Amino acid sequence: MTERIARIAGIGAYLPDRILTNTELSKMVDTSDDWIRERTGIHQRHIAADTQLTSDLATQAAQRALDDAGISASDVDMVIVATTTPDNTFPSTATKVQAALGARTGASFDVQAVCSGFIYSLSIADNFIARGQAQTVLVIGAETMSRILDWTDRTTCVLFGDGAGAMVLTGEDPTDDPKQARVLASYLRSDGRFKELLYVDGGPSSTQTVGHLRMAGNQVFRHAVNNIAESMTTICKQVDIQIEDVDWFVPHQANQRILEGVARKLSIPTGKVISTVADHGNTSAASVPMAFERAAIDGRIKRGDLVLMEALGGGFTWGATLVRY
Ligand code: UT7
Repeated sequence: MTERIARIAGIGAYLPDRILTNTELSKMVDTSDDWIRERTGIHQRHIAADTQLTSDLATQAAQRALDDAGISASDVDMVIVATTTPDNTFPSTATKVQAALGARTGASFDVQAVCSGFIYSLSIADNFIARGQAQTVLVIGAETMSRILDWTDRTTCVLFGDGAGAMVLTGEDPTDDPKQARVLASYLRSDGRFKELLYVDGGPSSTQTVGHLRMAGNQVFRHAVNNIAESMTTICKQVDIQIEDVDWFVPHQANQRILEGVARKLSIPTGKVISTVADHGNTSAASVPMAFERAAIDGRIKRGDLVLMEALGGGFTWGATLVRY
């Protein structure tokens, strides 16, 4: 059987209304607007309302992606939600989104790869489509990171925010057109030896509590720059292109200095790197699709462009996806 190809048919994003500024945070913990801007590039983050769950954010982003693709929920035969902040331990957030959208066929499940979750999920969707096991897949990254932060810990609480981003992937037969829109390659990695550097100190099996996010930030920083650069060069080699051939880079939005460090290491002009971290901080699995959506809406990323997405997260997990948009 000829492998089907997966193309991005639509994109959507959702940020909750409530904005928490650096100045507000400086009244809660011993920090300052200057420190946060200088060390992270973050100006503000969005925080979900008490009544909003991860599935609510995900549903909003997913509906916008469906509208963008001109597809109705009844056409969706798979919902994948990348999240580290599910509504409940079970059922999966994806099944709640499926119900909220009114999708009644196919399968839905969550993917836990923390900040790399969207990259992992794109690869999973691509594989289901390639085998002909799914035709229209909603891939969503959605997080309410505010619910797992220790709001007394200045080393973590200033970094994260809430939000959701989504893409609709649809299956097509391959053509002879070398510029046919498609997912071109995926590269996924993990190394569980580094779990103590970025983790949550709770969980159903260990403490029977949700727990709080803990991070040795400066050590994670070093791994992030090296591993992300490695995944970018590896994925380009896989499809035999040079890093210069890539039109746009859409990185996980954790820290402006990581984005710039990777760009410097690989001699990438910073103008090719999409950065939205100033507006919403680190939204974990949601950050890549949210940044992609922003750049597609403002006209920077155009149909036919070669776009490289990448991320690193707790675990460690990391990876990259290369698409012709
Ligand atoms: O999404 C998953 C991947 N996550 C990441 O990629 C995050 C990676 N790490 C980072 O982004 C950065 O390491 C941070 C932004 C977390 C920290 O920046 P840094 O330049 O690595 O700072 P540091 O951890 O080395 O801390 C420097 C100083 C310390 O004080 P002393 O020991 O030098 O007196 C910290 O206690 O900054 C202090 N500090 C703060 N000061 C004011 C830490 N957090 C804050 C704060 N406000 N919020």
